[in-house]
Amino acid sequence: MSFFNRYFCFVHLQKLSIVNFKNYEQAELEFSEDINCFVGNNGEGKTNMLDAIYYLSFTKSFFNPIDSQNILHDAPFFVVQGEFASGKKVESIYCGIKKGEKKQFKRNKKLYKKLAEHIGLLPLVMISPADSELITEGSEVRRKFVDGVISQYNKQYLENLLNYNKVLAHRNALLKHFAETRSFDATSIEVWDNRLVEFGQPIHTERKKFIEDFIPIFQRYFEEISQGNEKVSLEYNSQINDDSFMQLLIANSAKDRARQHTSVGIHKDDLVFKLGGSASPTTSGFAMKKFGSQGQQKTYLLALKLAKFEYIKSIKKLTPLLLLDDIFDKLDALRAKALMELVSRNGFGQIFITDTNEQRITELLKEIGKDFSIFRINNGKVK
Ligand SMILES: Nc1ncnc2c1ncn2[C@@H]1O[C@H](COP(=O)(O)OP(=O)(O)O)[C@@H](O)[C@H]1O
Ligand SMILES: [Mg+2]
Repeated sequence: MSFFNRYFCFVHLQKLSIVNFKNYEQAELEFSEDINCFVGNNGEGKTNMLDAIYYLSFTKSFFNPIDSQNILHDAPFFVVQGEFASGKKVESIYCGIKKGEKKQFKRNKKLYKKLAEHIGLLPLVMISPADSELITEGSEVRRKFVDGVISQYNKQYLENLLNYNKVLAHRNALLKHFAETRSFDATSIEVWDNRLVEFGQPIHTERKKFIEDFIPIFQRYFEEISQGNEKVSLEYNSQINDDSFMQLLIANSAKDRARQHTSVGIHKDDLVFKLGGSASPTTSGFAMKKFGSQGQQKTYLLALKLAKFEYIKSIKKLTPLLLLDDIFDKLDALRAKALMELVSRNGFGQIFITDTNEQRITELLKEIGKDFSIFRINNGKVK
Protein backbone atom coordinates (compact mmCIF):
# COMPACT_ATOMS: atom_id res chain seq x y z
CA MET A 1 0.00 0.00 0.00
CA SER A 2 1.31 3.43 -0.80
CA PHE A 3 2.09 6.05 1.80
CA PHE A 4 -0.99 8.05 0.92
CA ASN A 5 -3.59 5.34 0.87
CA ARG A 6 -6.71 7.21 1.86
CA TYR A 7 -9.11 8.55 -0.72
CA PHE A 8 -8.32 12.24 -1.35
CA CYS A 9 -5.53 12.22 1.12
CA PHE A 10 -4.66 15.48 2.67
CA VAL A 11 -0.95 15.99 2.87
CA HIS A 12 0.57 19.07 4.40
CA LEU A 13 3.95 20.55 5.14
CA GLN A 14 4.42 20.77 8.90
CA LYS A 15 7.97 21.99 9.17
CA LEU A 16 10.46 23.56 6.84
CA SER A 17 14.08 24.17 7.61
CA ILE A 18 16.47 25.91 5.26
CA VAL A 19 20.15 26.71 5.36
CA ASN A 20 21.96 28.98 2.88
CA PHE A 21 19.09 28.96 0.40
CA LYS A 22 18.99 32.11 -1.75
CA ASN A 23 18.81 35.07 0.65
CA TYR A 24 18.20 32.91 3.76
CA GLU A 25 21.11 31.96 5.96
CA GLN A 26 18.99 29.92 8.25
CA ALA A 27 15.28 29.58 8.93
CA GLU A 28 12.91 27.15 10.62
CA LEU A 29 9.18 27.40 10.22
CA GLU A 30 6.15 25.52 11.43
CA PHE A 31 3.08 25.85 9.27
CA SER A 32 -0.66 25.87 9.65
CA GLU A 33 -2.55 23.08 7.91
CA ASP A 34 -4.71 25.73 6.29
CA ILE A 35 -3.40 29.05 5.08
CA ASN A 36 0.10 30.46 5.52
CA CYS A 37 1.00 33.98 4.46
CA PHE A 38 4.45 35.37 3.83
CA VAL A 39 4.29 39.14 4.04
CA GLY A 40 6.97 41.75 3.49
CA ASN A 41 8.26 44.34 1.05
CA ASN A 42 9.67 43.65 -2.37
CA GLY A 43 12.90 41.69 -2.45
CA GLU A 44 12.76 40.46 1.16
CA GLY A 45 12.50 36.76 0.34
CA LYS A 46 8.81 35.84 0.12
CA THR A 47 9.02 34.18 -3.26
CA ASN A 48 12.27 32.45 -2.26
CA MET A 49 10.37 30.78 0.56
CA LEU A 50 7.82 29.42 -1.92
CA ASP A 51 10.68 28.23 -4.10
CA ALA A 52 12.17 26.27 -1.17
CA ILE A 53 8.83 24.47 -0.79
CA TYR A 54 8.70 23.92 -4.56
CA TYR A 55 12.11 22.21 -4.39
CA LEU A 56 10.74 19.57 -2.01
CA SER A 57 8.03 18.60 -4.45
CA PHE A 58 9.81 18.88 -7.81
CA THR A 59 13.47 18.39 -6.77
CA LYS A 60 14.29 21.69 -8.48
CA SER A 61 13.59 25.39 -8.45
CA PHE A 62 10.51 26.86 -10.09
CA PHE A 63 12.67 29.73 -11.35
CA ASN A 64 16.30 28.82 -11.75
CA PRO A 65 17.24 25.43 -13.21
CA ILE A 66 20.89 25.89 -12.17
CA ASP A 67 20.88 24.50 -8.63
CA SER A 68 24.17 26.05 -7.57
CA GLN A 69 22.83 29.55 -8.27
CA ASN A 70 20.24 29.00 -5.56
CA ILE A 71 22.95 28.73 -2.91
CA LEU A 72 23.30 31.85 -0.76
CA HIS A 73 26.01 33.99 -2.38
CA ASP A 74 29.47 32.89 -1.20
CA ALA A 75 28.17 29.90 0.79
CA PRO A 76 29.39 26.40 -0.21
CA PHE A 77 26.04 24.56 -0.07
CA PHE A 78 22.33 24.79 0.67
CA VAL A 79 19.95 22.45 2.44
CA VAL A 80 16.15 22.52 2.29
CA GLN A 81 14.31 20.04 4.46
CA GLY A 82 10.63 19.47 5.03
CA GLU A 83 8.39 17.27 7.08
CA PHE A 84 5.13 16.40 5.40
CA ALA A 85 2.29 14.84 7.34
CA SER A 86 -0.56 12.72 6.12
CA GLY A 87 -2.67 11.42 8.96
CA LYS A 88 -0.22 10.06 11.50
CA LYS A 89 2.56 9.38 9.05
CA VAL A 90 5.43 11.71 8.32
CA GLU A 91 7.52 11.95 5.16
CA SER A 92 10.85 13.61 5.61
CA ILE A 93 12.24 15.16 2.42
CA TYR A 94 15.79 16.43 2.09
CA CYS A 95 17.44 18.37 -0.68
CA GLY A 96 21.10 19.25 -0.45
CA ILE A 97 23.17 21.06 -3.08
CA LYS A 98 26.91 21.42 -2.74
CA LYS A 99 28.91 23.34 -5.33
CA GLY A 100 30.46 20.96 -7.85
CA GLU A 101 28.71 17.89 -6.44
CA LYS A 102 25.71 15.83 -7.43
CA LYS A 103 22.35 16.84 -5.98
CA GLN A 104 21.40 14.84 -2.89
CA PHE A 105 17.69 14.24 -2.72
CA LYS A 106 16.34 11.98 0.01
CA ARG A 107 13.03 10.62 1.15
CA ASN A 108 13.09 9.42 4.76
CA LYS A 109 16.92 9.49 4.70
CA LYS A 110 17.03 7.28 1.62
CA LEU A 111 18.76 8.74 -1.40
CA TYR A 112 16.82 8.62 -4.66
CA LYS A 113 18.64 6.97 -7.55
CA LYS A 114 16.49 8.83 -10.06
CA LEU A 115 14.97 12.20 -9.21
CA ALA A 116 12.03 11.45 -11.51
CA GLU A 117 10.88 8.82 -8.99
CA HIS A 118 10.00 11.58 -6.57
CA ILE A 119 7.79 13.53 -9.00
CA GLY A 120 4.12 13.10 -8.18
CA LEU A 121 4.64 11.95 -4.58
CA LEU A 122 3.88 15.40 -3.17
CA PRO A 123 1.82 17.18 -5.81
CA LEU A 124 2.02 20.93 -5.78
CA VAL A 125 0.69 23.73 -7.93
CA MET A 126 2.39 27.10 -8.00
CA ILE A 127 0.54 30.15 -9.26
CA SER A 128 3.00 32.87 -10.10
CA PRO A 129 3.30 36.10 -12.09
CA ALA A 130 5.62 34.09 -14.37
CA ASP A 131 2.53 32.19 -15.58
CA SER A 132 1.85 35.12 -17.90
CA GLU A 133 4.33 33.57 -20.31
CA LEU A 134 1.62 31.00 -21.08
CA ILE A 135 -0.15 33.81 -22.90
CA THR A 136 2.74 35.92 -24.13
CA GLU A 137 5.28 33.31 -25.24
CA GLY A 138 5.39 30.71 -28.01
CA SER A 139 3.64 27.37 -28.19
CA GLU A 140 6.44 25.47 -26.41
CA VAL A 141 5.41 26.96 -23.06
CA ARG A 142 1.83 25.82 -23.55
CA ARG A 143 2.88 22.31 -24.56
CA LYS A 144 4.99 22.21 -21.40
CA PHE A 145 1.93 23.15 -19.38
CA VAL A 146 0.02 20.21 -20.85
CA ASP A 147 2.98 17.83 -20.56
CA GLY A 148 3.59 18.93 -16.96
CA VAL A 149 0.08 17.90 -15.92
CA ILE A 150 -0.06 14.60 -17.80
CA SER A 151 3.38 13.45 -16.68
CA GLN A 152 2.32 13.81 -13.05
CA TYR A 153 0.11 10.76 -13.45
CA ASN A 154 1.29 9.01 -16.61
CA LYS A 155 4.90 7.81 -16.66
CA GLN A 156 4.47 6.19 -20.09
CA TYR A 157 3.53 9.57 -21.52
CA LEU A 158 6.78 11.09 -20.31
CA GLU A 159 8.72 8.22 -21.82
CA ASN A 160 6.95 8.58 -25.17
CA LEU A 161 7.72 12.26 -25.14
CA LEU A 162 11.43 11.72 -24.52
CA ASN A 163 11.56 9.10 -27.27
CA TYR A 164 9.61 11.28 -29.68
CA ASN A 165 12.05 14.14 -29.20
CA LYS A 166 15.01 11.85 -29.82
CA VAL A 167 13.46 10.47 -33.01
CA LEU A 168 12.60 13.98 -34.17
CA ALA A 169 16.21 15.07 -33.70
CA HIS A 170 17.40 12.05 -35.72
CA ARG A 171 14.94 12.76 -38.52
CA ASN A 172 15.95 16.42 -38.68
CA ALA A 173 19.63 15.47 -38.73
CA LEU A 174 18.97 13.10 -41.59
CA LEU A 175 17.12 15.81 -43.56
CA LYS A 176 20.11 18.07 -43.06
CA HIS A 177 22.47 15.33 -44.14
CA PHE A 178 20.46 14.80 -47.35
CA ALA A 179 20.66 18.51 -48.14
CA GLU A 180 24.40 18.67 -47.47
CA THR A 181 25.22 15.60 -49.54
CA ARG A 182 22.55 16.32 -52.17
CA SER A 183 21.24 12.82 -51.67
CA PHE A 184 17.97 11.23 -50.64
CA ASP A 185 16.98 7.84 -49.36
CA ALA A 186 13.27 7.29 -48.89
CA THR A 187 13.57 4.11 -46.85
CA SER A 188 15.74 5.63 -44.14
CA ILE A 189 13.32 8.54 -43.70
CA GLU A 190 10.50 6.02 -43.52
CA VAL A 191 12.14 4.35 -40.54
CA TRP A 192 12.03 7.60 -38.58
CA ASP A 193 8.51 8.38 -39.82
CA ASN A 194 7.27 5.11 -38.40
CA ARG A 195 8.87 5.79 -35.05
CA LEU A 196 7.55 9.37 -34.92
CA VAL A 197 4.05 8.01 -35.39
CA GLU A 198 4.66 5.20 -32.90
CA PHE A 199 5.54 7.67 -30.10
CA GLY A 200 3.61 10.72 -31.32
CA GLN A 201 0.20 9.14 -31.86
CA PRO A 202 -0.31 8.07 -28.21
CA ILE A 203 0.90 11.51 -27.08
CA HIS A 204 -1.73 13.12 -29.27
CA THR A 205 -4.44 10.78 -27.97
CA GLU A 206 -3.47 11.52 -24.38
CA ARG A 207 -3.32 15.30 -24.91
CA LYS A 208 -6.70 15.28 -26.63
CA LYS A 209 -8.29 13.31 -23.84
CA PHE A 210 -6.73 15.52 -21.20
CA ILE A 211 -7.92 18.77 -22.83
CA GLU A 212 -11.45 17.41 -23.25
CA ASP A 213 -11.68 16.62 -19.54
CA PHE A 214 -9.89 19.83 -18.60
CA ILE A 215 -12.02 22.38 -20.52
CA PRO A 216 -15.21 22.15 -18.40
CA ILE A 217 -13.17 22.43 -15.17
CA PHE A 218 -11.35 25.44 -16.58
CA GLN A 219 -14.61 27.09 -17.72
CA ARG A 220 -16.16 26.65 -14.30
CA TYR A 221 -13.22 28.33 -12.55
CA PHE A 222 -13.12 31.15 -15.03
CA GLU A 223 -16.80 31.89 -14.54
CA GLU A 224 -16.41 31.80 -10.81
CA ILE A 225 -13.49 34.21 -10.59
CA SER A 226 -14.91 36.61 -13.17
CA GLN A 227 -18.33 36.30 -11.51
CA GLY A 228 -19.83 35.03 -14.74
CA ASN A 229 -19.29 38.28 -16.60
CA GLU A 230 -17.17 37.07 -19.47
CA LYS A 231 -16.84 34.26 -21.95
CA VAL A 232 -13.57 32.65 -22.88
CA SER A 233 -12.51 29.51 -24.67
CA LEU A 234 -9.67 27.05 -24.76
CA GLU A 235 -8.89 24.71 -27.62
CA TYR A 236 -6.34 22.06 -28.49
CA ASN A 237 -4.78 22.83 -31.83
CA SER A 238 -2.95 19.95 -33.50
CA GLN A 239 -2.20 19.17 -37.11
CA ILE A 240 -3.20 15.60 -36.41
CA ASN A 241 -6.59 16.39 -34.90
CA ASP A 242 -8.24 15.69 -38.25
CA ASP A 243 -5.57 14.06 -40.42
CA SER A 244 -3.50 10.93 -40.19
CA PHE A 245 -0.02 11.66 -38.83
CA MET A 246 1.63 9.27 -41.29
CA GLN A 247 -0.17 10.76 -44.29
CA LEU A 248 0.83 14.25 -43.24
CA LEU A 249 4.48 13.19 -42.94
CA ILE A 250 4.36 11.73 -46.44
CA ALA A 251 2.51 14.71 -47.89
CA ASN A 252 5.04 17.14 -46.42
CA SER A 253 8.17 15.19 -47.17
CA ALA A 254 9.28 17.41 -50.09
CA LYS A 255 8.78 20.53 -47.98
CA ASP A 256 10.65 18.96 -45.06
CA ARG A 257 13.58 18.15 -47.35
CA ALA A 258 13.70 21.72 -48.59
CA ARG A 259 13.48 23.20 -45.09
CA GLN A 260 15.66 20.53 -43.48
CA HIS A 261 13.32 20.03 -40.58
CA THR A 262 10.11 18.23 -39.72
CA SER A 263 7.10 20.45 -40.24
CA VAL A 264 4.32 18.21 -38.94
CA GLY A 265 3.84 16.43 -35.66
CA ILE A 266 2.91 16.87 -32.04
CA HIS A 267 5.89 19.19 -31.56
CA LYS A 268 3.74 21.77 -33.38
CA ASP A 269 0.72 21.38 -31.07
CA ASP A 270 -0.63 24.42 -29.30
CA LEU A 271 -3.38 25.59 -26.99
CA VAL A 272 -5.55 28.44 -28.28
CA PHE A 273 -6.73 30.96 -25.69
CA LYS A 274 -9.60 33.23 -26.73
CA LEU A 275 -11.84 35.86 -25.31
CA GLY A 276 -15.55 35.73 -26.23
CA GLY A 277 -17.15 33.23 -28.59
CA SER A 278 -15.59 29.93 -29.37
CA ALA A 279 -12.02 29.09 -30.24
CA SER A 280 -13.19 27.41 -33.40
CA PRO A 281 -11.83 29.24 -36.46
CA THR A 282 -15.31 29.37 -37.96
CA THR A 283 -16.80 31.36 -35.08
CA SER A 284 -15.85 34.59 -33.39
CA GLY A 285 -13.48 35.14 -30.52
CA PHE A 286 -10.38 37.25 -30.04
CA ALA A 287 -6.89 36.18 -29.13
CA MET A 288 -6.33 36.58 -25.40
CA LYS A 289 -2.78 37.72 -26.04
CA LYS A 290 -3.80 40.67 -28.22
CA PHE A 291 -7.16 41.68 -26.84
CA GLY A 292 -7.36 40.54 -23.23
CA SER A 293 -6.90 43.21 -20.55
CA GLN A 294 -4.30 42.50 -17.87
CA GLY A 295 -7.07 41.58 -15.45
CA GLN A 296 -8.73 39.28 -17.97
CA GLN A 297 -5.45 37.60 -18.75
CA LYS A 298 -4.73 37.16 -15.06
CA THR A 299 -8.18 35.64 -14.50
CA TYR A 300 -7.65 33.31 -17.44
CA LEU A 301 -4.32 32.16 -16.05
CA LEU A 302 -5.74 31.68 -12.57
CA ALA A 303 -8.53 29.55 -13.98
CA LEU A 304 -6.00 27.48 -15.93
CA LYS A 305 -3.89 26.85 -12.84
CA LEU A 306 -6.80 26.13 -10.51
CA ALA A 307 -8.21 23.71 -13.06
CA LYS A 308 -4.79 22.07 -13.18
CA PHE A 309 -4.96 21.77 -9.38
CA GLU A 310 -8.36 20.12 -9.49
CA TYR A 311 -7.43 17.82 -12.34
CA ILE A 312 -4.28 16.53 -10.64
CA LYS A 313 -6.18 16.10 -7.41
CA SER A 314 -8.96 14.08 -8.99
CA ILE A 315 -6.56 11.80 -10.83
CA LYS A 316 -4.08 11.29 -8.03
CA LYS A 317 -6.69 11.23 -5.24
CA LEU A 318 -4.34 13.50 -3.36
CA THR A 319 -4.76 17.20 -2.67
CA PRO A 320 -1.79 19.23 -3.96
CA LEU A 321 -0.21 22.02 -1.96
CA LEU A 322 -1.13 25.38 -3.44
CA LEU A 323 1.43 28.17 -3.69
CA LEU A 324 0.07 31.61 -4.56
CA ASP A 325 2.74 34.17 -5.38
CA ASP A 326 1.67 37.82 -5.62
CA ILE A 327 -1.79 36.94 -6.87
CA PHE A 328 -3.42 40.16 -5.70
CA ASP A 329 -1.37 42.09 -8.14
CA LYS A 330 -3.56 43.21 -11.08
CA LEU A 331 -6.75 41.68 -9.63
CA ASP A 332 -9.53 43.99 -8.55
CA ALA A 333 -10.85 43.65 -4.99
CA LEU A 334 -13.91 41.72 -6.11
CA ARG A 335 -11.93 39.11 -8.03
CA ALA A 336 -9.35 38.86 -5.25
CA LYS A 337 -12.07 38.11 -2.74
CA ALA A 338 -13.79 35.64 -5.08
CA LEU A 339 -10.48 33.88 -5.52
CA MET A 340 -9.75 33.66 -1.79
CA GLU A 341 -13.23 32.38 -1.07
CA LEU A 342 -12.80 29.79 -3.73
CA VAL A 343 -9.51 28.42 -2.45
CA SER A 344 -10.58 28.44 1.20
CA ARG A 345 -13.44 26.07 0.47
CA ASN A 346 -13.27 22.40 1.20
CA GLY A 347 -11.40 20.69 -1.52
CA PHE A 348 -8.33 22.84 -1.31
CA GLY A 349 -5.67 21.78 1.14
CA GLN A 350 -2.73 23.65 2.55
CA ILE A 351 -2.07 27.03 0.99
CA PHE A 352 0.94 29.37 0.97
CA ILE A 353 0.39 32.97 -0.09
CA THR A 354 2.74 35.92 -0.49
CA ASP A 355 1.63 39.53 -0.23
CA THR A 356 3.33 42.87 0.21
CA ASN A 357 0.32 44.24 2.06
CA GLU A 358 -0.21 42.57 5.43
CA GLN A 359 -3.36 44.51 6.18
CA ARG A 360 -5.04 43.56 2.91
CA ILE A 361 -4.43 39.85 3.24
CA THR A 362 -5.29 39.78 6.96
CA GLU A 363 -8.60 41.55 6.44
CA LEU A 364 -9.51 39.36 3.52
CA LEU A 365 -8.80 36.16 5.45
CA LYS A 366 -10.67 37.37 8.52
CA GLU A 367 -13.68 38.13 6.35
CA ILE A 368 -13.58 34.63 5.00
CA GLY A 369 -13.13 33.22 8.49
CA LYS A 370 -10.35 30.70 7.86
CA ASP A 371 -7.44 29.80 10.11
CA PHE A 372 -4.17 31.33 9.00
CA SER A 373 -0.59 32.00 10.09
CA ILE A 374 1.37 35.09 9.16
CA PHE A 375 5.14 35.07 8.65
CA ARG A 376 6.80 38.46 8.34
CA ILE A 377 9.78 38.29 6.04
CA ASN A 378 12.51 40.85 6.33
CA ASN A 379 15.76 40.59 4.40
CA GLY A 380 15.98 36.80 4.58
CA LYS A 381 14.76 36.57 8.15
CA VAL A 382 11.41 35.27 9.38
CA LYS A 383 9.41 36.68 12.27
N1 LIG B 1 21.60 32.84 -4.45
C1 LIG B 1 21.23 33.95 -3.78
N2 LIG B 1 21.99 34.40 -2.74
C2 LIG B 1 21.63 35.52 -2.07
N3 LIG B 1 20.54 36.25 -2.34
C3 LIG B 1 19.76 35.83 -3.35
C4 LIG B 1 20.06 34.67 -4.11
N4 LIG B 1 19.09 34.52 -5.05
C5 LIG B 1 18.23 35.54 -4.87
N5 LIG B 1 18.62 36.33 -3.86
C6 LIG B 1 17.98 37.56 -3.34
O1 LIG B 1 16.66 37.31 -2.95
C7 LIG B 1 15.93 38.53 -3.06
C8 LIG B 1 14.63 38.32 -3.75
O2 LIG B 1 13.83 37.56 -2.96
P1 LIG B 1 12.32 37.26 -3.40
O3 LIG B 1 11.92 36.10 -2.59
O4 LIG B 1 12.19 37.17 -4.84
O5 LIG B 1 11.64 38.60 -2.88
P2 LIG B 1 10.11 38.92 -2.69
O6 LIG B 1 9.93 39.07 -1.21
O7 LIG B 1 9.89 40.20 -3.41
O8 LIG B 1 9.32 37.80 -3.24
C9 LIG B 1 16.75 39.48 -3.87
O9 LIG B 1 17.26 40.47 -3.00
C10 LIG B 1 17.84 38.62 -4.42
O10 LIG B 1 19.04 39.31 -4.58
MG1 LIG C 1 8.09 37.83 -4.88
